[in-house]
Amino acid sequence: MPIADAKAYLDGPFQIIKGWCLPNLWQSIEPLYEQIVARGNPGPVAEIGVYQGKFFIGLVKTMGAPTNNYAIDVFDLQEFNLDKAGEGNIEALRANLRSAGVDDAAVEFLKTDSMWLNDGDIRRLRADTGGFSMFSVDGCHLAEHTVNDIHIAMELTRPDGIIFVDDYYNPNWPGVQEGVARLYFGQVPRFVPLFFSCNKLVLCNISFHARYLKAVRDYLAAHYPGARVKLVKRFGYDTLTVVPEAKIATPAT
Ligand SMILES: C[S@@+](CC[C@H](N)C(=O)[O-])C[C@H]1O[C@@H](n2cnc3c(N)ncnc32)[C@H](O)[C@@H]1O
Repeated sequence: MPIADAKAYLDGPFQIIKGWCLPNLWQSIEPLYEQIVARGNPGPVAEIGVYQGKFFIGLVKTMGAPTNNYAIDVFDLQEFNLDKAGEGNIEALRANLRSAGVDDAAVEFLKTDSMWLNDGDIRRLRADTGGFSMFSVDGCHLAEHTVNDIHIAMELTRPDGIIFVDDYYNPNWPGVQEGVARLYFGQVPRFVPLFFSCNKLVLCNISFHARYLKAVRDYLAAHYPGARVKLVKRFGYDTLTVVPEAKIATPAT
């Protein structure tokens, strides 16, 4: 079962892979995984800003798609990494994928500045992959990149999929919050805020918002009663602020 693979990864290689990601985020990912799988529509995952794969590998393990998981990063084109928040390294990423037991065939490496991706690229990616079930935005943290990368994620994420936006409240990267604010004040996107936990704002399609909100709340109450869950409005939408239980995530099997 893929979510059990994620647990083994969190307990194992995750602990020594360099990067920025908190394992207890999976307390809130588990119910979304269940929802996606219950619909019989699990797909691959993608991340813009992979660095050495700490979060990306966790997503690959969670969904368990055998092909078409996309690692998108400038990699050695570091002159286009404008905020220098970690330098992507494809060799370290490949080594970490191997150490975590991810099959070579499972991952596609797309070396690009996310600001260069055009409509044709998006159409081709969607046709090749069928869209992603989980998409992480963690590349450059400027407002321009945040808006651009969330737009790309919304174009490529399946209707029942979810989008993670890293560093939403991180005071070192205010461009993320500014980008998200510009998105929701200036437009009415189809993906809307669902919850904030472990440094990430999570978005889902408005069609699934009510059921996903309930699923996350109910699951946390049943499986992680020590988690602190607060219902708050973000940009007019009901969302949760989740402070997970302190213990390591233990996905129910
Ligand atoms: C903070 S690190 C990502 C951390 C990673 N998600 C993890 O789990 O540890 C940011 C990454 O974004 C990449 N990056 C920066 N600007 C980018 C851009 N314009 N397009 C694509 N990748 C970019 C960097 O090379 C770096 O690998």
